[in-house]
Amino acid sequence: MDDSPVVVVTGASSGIGAATARLFGQRGWRVVLAARRQERLEALARDIEGQGGRALVVPTDVTQWPQIQRLAQTTWSTWGRVDVLVNNAGLGRLKWLETMDPQRDIAHQIQVNLTGAIWVVRAFLPGLLEQGFGHIINVASVASFAALPTYSVYAATKFGLRGFTDALRREVEPLGLRVSAIYPGPVATEFGHHAGGPLQRHGHTTPARLVLRAEDVARAIWQLAQRPRRGKIVPWWFTPLLGLQALVPKLLDVLMARTVRTLRAKAPTTSQGTS
Ligand SMILES: NC(=O)c1ccc[n+]([C@@H]2O[C@H](COP(=O)([O-])OP(=O)(O)OC[C@H]3O[C@@H](n4cnc5c(N)ncnc54)[C@H](OP(=O)(O)O)[C@@H]3O)[C@@H](O)[C@H]2O)c1
Repeated sequence: MDDSPVVVVTGASSGIGAATARLFGQRGWRVVLAARRQERLEALARDIEGQGGRALVVPTDVTQWPQIQRLAQTTWSTWGRVDVLVNNAGLGRLKWLETMDPQRDIAHQIQVNLTGAIWVVRAFLPGLLEQGFGHIINVASVASFAALPTYSVYAATKFGLRGFTDALRREVEPLGLRVSAIYPGPVATEFGHHAGGPLQRHGHTTPARLVLRAEDVARAIWQLAQRPRRGKIVPWWFTPLLGLQALVPKLLDVLMARTVRTLRAKAPTTSQGTS
């Protein structure tokens, strides 16, 4: 009988999730792959199995509670244990708030990044509590600490995920579970293809040499799984920056006010909110 550890990864069809699943698979873990794009998950499963690993594909939309329940049920009934749950599915819609579509940009973003992440934990928690061990790793962001203009809804979801992580840790760690969050800075993934907003369009982006690769974040998640702790900010140099902005939030206000005035002068939004 195979008693190797099991990791569940949501948002495994690309970016950080795919890199994380691949890394755990290479290290001998059994991997459960969840996201909406089934063909991507199946291609990744073939890759992992081609390298001697084991993968289970469970197409899942984290905005659909019955699909999340099916993910949890299929995982427990197929492999009977969950050692690490990487709650990673997420997206960004980085726009001026008055241009955001109430449903597609606001409600959906909250539904995937925050409600979806909470639902995934809710579905796995009874089984985790029953087995008496397991590590939940929520993929948050540096936007869980510092909220930039156009990141209003995204930051709300990631601040929310940080609060959820802290409360959950205090709720379940006395019962034997571990709960962490990882807080990545900018990462080169498909995220940017969907998220790009006025800041990105006008060149207010992180210099390419400072942008992480999905594999860097996967390695940090692996390290967190090996040595659980409350949270991990990657890259490390964001830690003093975020500390500074917590101490002197006015600094970011002033810096951002200039940027926003310039951007809005370049591309004013109409009274209907379209840019
Ligand atoms: N890239 C960055 O700069 C960055 C920085 C900090 C934090 N993060 C966080 O890292 C996580 C992964 O993002 P990424 O950068 O790897 O972006 P990505 O390449 O776009 O991957 C996002 C993943 O989320 C999945 N997803 C989106 N909506 C979903 C839904 N309704 N149900 C299930 N899965 C869904 C996507 O799969 P399907 O489309 O197949 O469903 C995809 O696998 C997100 O939580 C993001 O907020 C990213």
